Amino acid sequence: MKARIIGTGSYLPEKIMTNYDLEKLVDTSHEWIVTRTGIEERRIIADDQSTSDMATIAAQRAMEMAGVKPAEIDLIVLATITGDYPWPATACVVQANIGAKNAFAYDVSAACSGFLYALSSANDFIRAGSGKKALVIGAETLSRAVDWTDRNTCVLFGDGAGAVLLDAQESDSGVLSCHLYSDGNYLELLYQPGFGAKHPPSVEGIEAKLPYLKMQGNEVFKVAVRSLTEVSKEALKANGFGSADVAQFIPHQANLRILEATTKRLKLTEKQSFINVNKYGNTSGATIPIAIDEAYHQGLLKEGDLILSAAFGGGFTWGSTLIRW
Ligand SMILES: CC(C)(COP(=O)(O)OP(=O)(O)OC[C@H]1O[C@@H](n2cnc3c(N)ncnc32)[C@H](O)[C@@H]1OP(=O)(O)O)[C@@H](O)C(=O)NCCC(=O)NCCS
Repeated sequence: MKARIIGTGSYLPEKIMTNYDLEKLVDTSHEWIVTRTGIEERRIIADDQSTSDMATIAAQRAMEMAGVKPAEIDLIVLATITGDYPWPATACVVQANIGAKNAFAYDVSAACSGFLYALSSANDFIRAGSGKKALVIGAETLSRAVDWTDRNTCVLFGDGAGAVLLDAQESDSGVLSCHLYSDGNYLELLYQPGFGAKHPPSVEGIEAKLPYLKMQGNEVFKVAVRSLTEVSKEALKANGFGSADVAQFIPHQANLRILEATTKRLKLTEKQSFINVNKYGNTSGATIPIAIDEAYHQGLLKEGDLILSAAFGGGFTWGSTLIRW
């Protein structure tokens, strides 16, 4: 029994923020951002929308593609670090929105690796026979978690959502493996200090900008390239494949330089590697399902193709998956 992807969907907010728009907010330039990150523009959520709204549309599109009705969904796993509320889970909001009355729903918090953690979790439920159809969603509203006066971080992120619909099938196709890792020793290199139990809401906390994302980009960069490469190799080796067997490498889209360094180390060609970070920036847990949806609609994913995916993010967390399409 394998968990096979039978539907994909995504939602990107209409509002485009270019690097030139950012030049008006912070001391930066289009040239700096493109050279260091490859990002040209990102999407920003509308004032009256939230993470669950984007996740709902992405999920509905995945169900529509698969021809699956809401009542058929057994579980909803939503990867996010920018949910609607501290609790309950944004997955429960999505469940209500789409009318998936037979599903149980929960969020996964693993930052930019969140989608792969969510996929792995849903895959395990399916393989254990605890459900047949699972919605796995990545949805983020990073524009409400970044400090728009901090040029080190605000230029990197964007908003969006993507979803895949998994179905339990007796098939050679589907999720072949998932490898996940964490190392909490690196927590303070990439995190959002407040507001939680460690730093509860306070006026001083707001003044110290605790509710905004903090990152030491240089340090993150080095560990990211090393971890993405190792965990991708592990996925290939565990299944007896090499780089030449990969039809599409769909990594977490954080930064073009991280992607280029990783694909080079993996000896993957440009044609094998899917990149859209230029259009959307880093949408954290949403980058991979958005990219899978785009790659599918561009005709890049064909039945039997091997899809390799890897992610790295706050925690630190990282992981990979190999999927036979
Ligand atoms: C953030 C990142 C793009 C910065 O690029 P970098 O080449 O490492 O640049 P540095 O951090 O060394 O900064 C170089 C200079 O650019 C400046 N700078 C930073 N952001 C800038 C911006 N938006 N515009 C202009 N200058 C900027 C810095 O202040 C620094 O100036 P200084 O030398 O006077 O101190 C890069 O480190 C990165 O991508 N890291 C990984 C981040 C990431 O993807 N995180 C999520 C992982 S899931």
